[in-house]
Amino acid sequence: MRLAILLSGRGSNFQAIHEAVRSGTLDAEIVLVLSNRPDAPGIERAREYGYNAPVVDHKTFANRTAHEEEVLRRLDAAHPDFIVLAGYMRLLSAAFVERWRNRILNIHPSLLPAFPGVDAQAQALAHGVKVSGCTVHFVDEHLDAGPIIVQRTVPVHDDDTPDTLAARILVEEHAAYVEALTKLARGYRIEGRRVVAP
Ligand code: GRF
Repeated sequence: MRLAILLSGRGSNFQAIHEAVRSGTLDAEIVLVLSNRPDAPGIERAREYGYNAPVVDHKTFANRTAHEEEVLRRLDAAHPDFIVLAGYMRLLSAAFVERWRNRILNIHPSLLPAFPGVDAQAQALAHGVKVSGCTVHFVDEHLDAGPIIVQRTVPVHDDDTPDTLAARILVEEHAAYVEALTKLARGYRIEGRRVVAP
């Protein structure tokens, strides 16, 4: 299973996948790590590990389409089976999603369909939910909306802040991405919105 990872920041989910591959927990190969931000700590780490890890800086392109075309070129050249969004802070166009339909994964720090979009942990706290978590899902044309592959839960404590809740969820995110990729590697089919084992 060939993986291309797109990130914009810290890269802890990338690191979790890297460690699972390196330890043999996950039977996969990371063939590309791409960042749209030159200062992303995750891309520095990817280079330290020796990955093909280019920066395609959106600020150096005339418009959104031109940037995305370059990202697509890099992806095509790497021949991934799956594109893993790991804190990639760019919206993908409908054409991008169509090109890689049901082969783009995202992770979101809430139990979707609750609390899509930014500041999911703060949204969860403000709503007063007692349980939250994370969702690994396929990407479709809508924000944080495609078929769900894996979810993991955490309790929400009365004294949580967005940061303490995010830290608890992040631990589960790292396990969830490895769990989701392992599930996909074993084979799956998509029935409507449901991702099911064969
Ligand atoms: C994670 O919370 C993920 O759910 C969200 O962006 C964050 C990325 O963190 N989509 P990291 O860069 O993988 O550490």
